[in-house]
Amino acid sequence: MSYKVRCTQPADFNEVIKLCHAVYPGTPVWTEDQLKSHLAIYPEGQFVAVDESSGEVVGMSASLIINWDDYDFKDNWKYFTDAGLFTNHDPVNGRTLYAAEIMVAPEAQGTGVGSLLYEARENLAIKSNLLRIRAGARLRGYSTYADELSPDDYVLRVIRGEIFDPTLSFQLKRGFRVLHIVSGYLSFDEESLGYAAVIEWLNEKVAEPSHYNRGSIKFQIPGKWS
Ligand SMILES: CC(C)(COP(=O)(O)OP(=O)(O)OC[C@H]1O[C@@H](n2cnc3c(N)ncnc32)[C@H](O)[C@@H]1OP(=O)(O)O)[C@@H](O)C(=O)NCCC(=O)NCCS
Repeated sequence: MSYKVRCTQPADFNEVIKLCHAVYPGTPVWTEDQLKSHLAIYPEGQFVAVDESSGEVVGMSASLIINWDDYDFKDNWKYFTDAGLFTNHDPVNGRTLYAAEIMVAPEAQGTGVGSLLYEARENLAIKSNLLRIRAGARLRGYSTYADELSPDDYVLRVIRGEIFDPTLSFQLKRGFRVLHIVSGYLSFDEESLGYAAVIEWLNEKVAEPSHYNRGSIKFQIPGKWS
């Protein structure tokens, strides 16, 4: 199979909504109004991955630019995305590409589609001279371990490669690091019980040494970031 990533178009909405149902059965999906709003506000930040032979949409990602100073690590997904509408997109003051969504069709997962979508995001951040990409990685495997591990201990074990988390393990492989663990990120998410890791990828063409210094950020892994 060969896939390509391109910017989302209105004609893709039905397929994107179908994809949401397949990836997240039984949970709220992107609405046409939200998808329209993304394209009206920041068309360059919205991507689909398509199967080159059939043209079928097999993955999508949605992003906006935010000024991180307007937010707190503990804010939830709804706040970071203005309830999924991206009306808080701030390309004038913002230096952070906020990765609001990424999903790949179940039958195409593990075949490199997610990596292609992230590559497109990284190229966008570099082209736009942004400092970084940040996101909340919901801890999809946490509910299985909740009786034995705190969310922090769970994340440590995922970072060490002792536990595979379907979302965070993928993002760590893409060069993200964990800055913080938060609760109440996506309240309806039974897999993560609402816990997420705030993760970051830095644009090496722009980042200063101080950006690599975790400073006052709380989630410290001894020796890991020195
Ligand atoms: C997370 C997700 C976007 C990753 O996309 P993907 O197309 O499956 O990822 P890729 O095929 O590009 O894989 C990237 C790396 O992760 C590994 N990986 C991904 N899924 C895996 C799985 N289920 N089992 C083992 N390894 C996996 C791949 O082996 C690859 O590592 P490699 O480069 O060393 O080979 C996708 O699995 C998905 O849609 N999940 C459900 C929705 C979701 O949780 N989105 C995130 C919201 S926070």
